[in-house]
Amino acid sequence: MKIQVQIGPVIEKKTPCLLVGIFEEETDSTWTESIFWLTGRNLTHIFQDKEFTGKHQETLLLHMGSEKACLRILLVGLGKEKEITPEKIRRAVGSATGLIKGMKVSAFAVDVASFISEGASPTDISQVLGEGILLADYRFDRYQTENAEEKPPLIDYVDFCAQDEALEHDLLAGIGLAQSVCEAVFFSRDLVNEPGNVKSPDYLAQQARAMAEKAGLKCTILGKAELEKEGMGALLGVAQGSVREPRLIVLEYVGADPDEDPVVLVGKGVVFDSGGISLKPADKMDEMKMDMAGGAAVIGALLAVSKLGLPQRVVGIIPAVENLPSGTAIRPGDILTSMSGKTIEILNTDAEGRLILADALTYAARYNPRLVIDLATLTGACIVALGHEASAVLGNNRELIGSLIESGQETGERLWEFPLWDDYTELMKSEVADVKNSGGRPAGTISAAVFLKKFAADYKWAHLDIAGTAWEYKGGHYRPKGGTGFGVRLLTHFLQNLKD
Ligand code: BES
Ligand code: MN
Ligand code: ZN
Repeated sequence: MKIQVQIGPVIEKKTPCLLVGIFEEETDSTWTESIFWLTGRNLTHIFQDKEFTGKHQETLLLHMGSEKACLRILLVGLGKEKEITPEKIRRAVGSATGLIKGMKVSAFAVDVASFISEGASPTDISQVLGEGILLADYRFDRYQTENAEEKPPLIDYVDFCAQDEALEHDLLAGIGLAQSVCEAVFFSRDLVNEPGNVKSPDYLAQQARAMAEKAGLKCTILGKAELEKEGMGALLGVAQGSVREPRLIVLEYVGADPDEDPVVLVGKGVVFDSGGISLKPADKMDEMKMDMAGGAAVIGALLAVSKLGLPQRVVGIIPAVENLPSGTAIRPGDILTSMSGKTIEILNTDAEGRLILADALTYAARYNPRLVIDLATLTGACIVALGHEASAVLGNNRELIGSLIESGQETGERLWEFPLWDDYTELMKSEVADVKNSGGRPAGTISAAVFLKKFAADYKWAHLDIAGTAWEYKGGHYRPKGGTGFGVRLLTHFLQNLKD
C-alpha cells in the first residue's frame, strides 16, 4: 500500500471514500457545521436522532452520489476529545479500513485534520493513522490457492488530505515512520503465521539472515556443533527430541559507537511446541506453531531499528528449537546442565521455553549488555491472569520496567507488571538439582520468571510474557486473525526513547 499526501480542499478530492474522524462531544452545531462544510447538505437529523454520535469506533456511511468527486464519506467515532489516545485513533481507523475494504474499493482518502485534537503533533497523528490503516490491511494468504476473487482487494493507495500546505512535511514524516515500523510488524506476523512444517529452526535462521543482508545487519547463526561447544545443555536438551536441529540466531545492529554496550533483545523461538514427552492435549495443539512469536518480535524489532537508523547498538538473540516427543527426547526427571553451569531438573518437558531462554540469557552476558529484554510465549498462566489484553512484565530494574510500560501505553502493546518477590523463589527449588523447570500451578507466570532470573545475572533485565497477545483469535480493528507481531512496535518505541 502506498500512502501519499494531498494538499488542497479536502472535499474536492476525487475518491471512492473519504474517512472523517468525529469526536463525541462535538456539539450539535459544530457537528452540523463540519458535515455541512464537507457535504453541502444539512444532515442535522443524523445527530439529533442519535443515529451517529461519535462514540469510539461507531461508524456511519454517507453516500454522496456520483455527481460528487468524493463518492462516499465514512464517519468514524473517536470518543470524547479529552479522552483521545493514539491507540483509540489506531483502532478507529483500523476498523474503518476493514469497512472500506468491504466496499470493494482499492483506494481511499483521509481527512487528516479531523483526527487532530488540540496540542497533538501532526507527525504523531500521521504516524498513528498510518499504523492503524497499514496494520488493518494485512493478510496471510499464501497457502490459499482457490477463490482469490472472493477476497476483498487489498488497498492500493491512501491519500492523507489536508488543506494547509505547511503540514505536508510533517505528514510525510509520520507516514515514513509508520511504513518502516509496519513493514517490520508484517515480517514478524508472516513468521508467526507460517506453519510448523515450513518453519524449522533453520528456516527461521535463513529468514533472519536474508532480512539481515537486505537491512545491513550482522547475522551469526550457531548450529548444533557450536551450541555443544558453548555447553548449551538446556537448549540442546529441548532440541534433542526433534530431527530438526536447533539454531541460535544472533542479529546485530550498530547505529552507534561499536564500543558502546548494546541493548540485547532475546526472543523465544520454539517453532512448534507439542509439549514433548509431557505431551499437550490434541485440542488446539496447532496453535503452538506460534511459540516462536517472541523470536519473531525480536527479528522484527531489529528490522525496524535498522530501517529507522536509530542511534543505538542493538543485539538480538533467538534460540530456535522444536519441542517434540520421541525416542531421543528429554524425559521428566532428567537433569540438564545449562551453559551457566547451573543444573536443571526437568519436571515437565512442556516447560521448555525457559530452558532455551536460560542459555540465551547466559550467552547475552558476553555482550556486556546495558540492559536485556526477553520476550516469550512462556506460560498459559499468563493468559489466565490477563487474557489477551496485555502482556506480563517482570524484571529486576524499576526504571526499565517503567519505560517499557510507558512504551506499551503509547503503542497500544500494553504491559502489566507482576511481582517478583523473593518469596516466590521457593516455588522453583529442586531436591536434586540447582533449580527445577516447573513450579506447578500457583503463580505460573511468576515462577517462570523466577527461573529466568537465575540466569539473567548481573545486568538490568526485563521479561515479557506474550502468551496471550502474540495471536489474535477474533480479529478486530487493526489486528487480523493470526500472528499480531506484538512487541515489534513496543520495542521500537522503547529504543527510540532510550536515553543515554
Ligand atoms: N508455549 C507454552 C505456553 C503457551 C500456552 C503459550 C498457550 C501460548 C498459549 C509453554 O511452553 C508451556 O507449555 N508452558 C506450560 C508451563 C508449565 C508446564 C509449567 C504451561 O503454561 O502450561
Ligand atoms: Mn511448552
Ligand atoms: Zn512453549
